[in-house]
Amino acid sequence: MASESTKKRIELGRDFIRFDMTEEGEPSDQQQGLKQPPLTKEKTQTETIQLPRDFSRIIKSNQLYECMIHRESHRVYTDEKVNLTELAFLLYMTQGVKSIRGNHYATLRVVPSGGARHAFESYVVVRKVEGLNEGIYHYLPLSHELEHVASLPDMTSLMNDALLGQKWALKANLIFFWSVVPYRAEWRYSFMAHRILLVDIGYVSQNLYLASEALGLGTCAIGAFDRSICDQLLQLDGKEEFTILASPVGTVSKRNKQDEDAFYAFLKQADHDKSE
Ligand SMILES: Cc1cc2nc3c(=O)[nH]c(=O)nc-3n(C[C@H](O)[C@H](O)[C@H](O)COP(=O)(O)O)c2cc1C
Repeated sequence: MASESTKKRIELGRDFIRFDMTEEGEPSDQQQGLKQPPLTKEKTQTETIQLPRDFSRIIKSNQLYECMIHRESHRVYTDEKVNLTELAFLLYMTQGVKSIRGNHYATLRVVPSGGARHAFESYVVVRKVEGLNEGIYHYLPLSHELEHVASLPDMTSLMNDALLGQKWALKANLIFFWSVVPYRAEWRYSFMAHRILLVDIGYVSQNLYLASEALGLGTCAIGAFDRSICDQLLQLDGKEEFTILASPVGTVSKRNKQDEDAFYAFLKQADHDKSE
């Protein structure tokens, strides 16, 4: 039986996804004429890495139906490398900017976003990518570049803590982390922004699944992470910008499917043991 304080938190969570667009409220900052926040985070490094835009040679399947029907979470990875063009494709398909609308009013991207607010930033922890050193990188979607944010002296153990001991993820070639900058959406939607943000991140995550399928790679969304460790690693303040989702991406083989099934069998056994 849930305690009173847990019940209260559950009720708060429900209220937050139950909002009614017709509810009376103060005008939003946009309606009050306040200055719009920047469309993206500014680059912080002087040196950047221009990413390839020609993806014609790396696509293994351009059949949307095939990619959708075969989409699944992959948690078993092989030891091959991912190349820079493949990483560039994944970044473009999840957050790439196609055009800018108005006088820097909005970006139109590969993914949709409520009010075209696009409140996310993409970070990649690189372990094994041809042409890139290990470390943390930040994607600059307007110019389709990467900037190096930090090196990780002990990547395996830091990622293990950040991802709450989900060891399978440590073998991935790279790990996507998305942060949210809530004010980009709050400026327009005020207290109603947050449900929209959660819907928005689903599109980003699904596009990573589908884009990975198209390259013959595998990914798995990770909602179970230690947010404060992730924020610290990505150098986020945890208030105006904080981690919202992670997704390792790795090379996979057909044999992995059997290993995936073994992973589920293991979970089933653990559940069985618990109920004994
Ligand atoms: C928002 C979200 C968070 C998730 N978090 C985790 C996670 O922390 N660890 C994990 O192993 N799988 C995680 N998953 C993957 C789900 O377990 C998986 O999608 C589900 O079991 C269905 O399997 P499928 O994706 O292969 O269809 C997450 C999926 C979503 C959409």
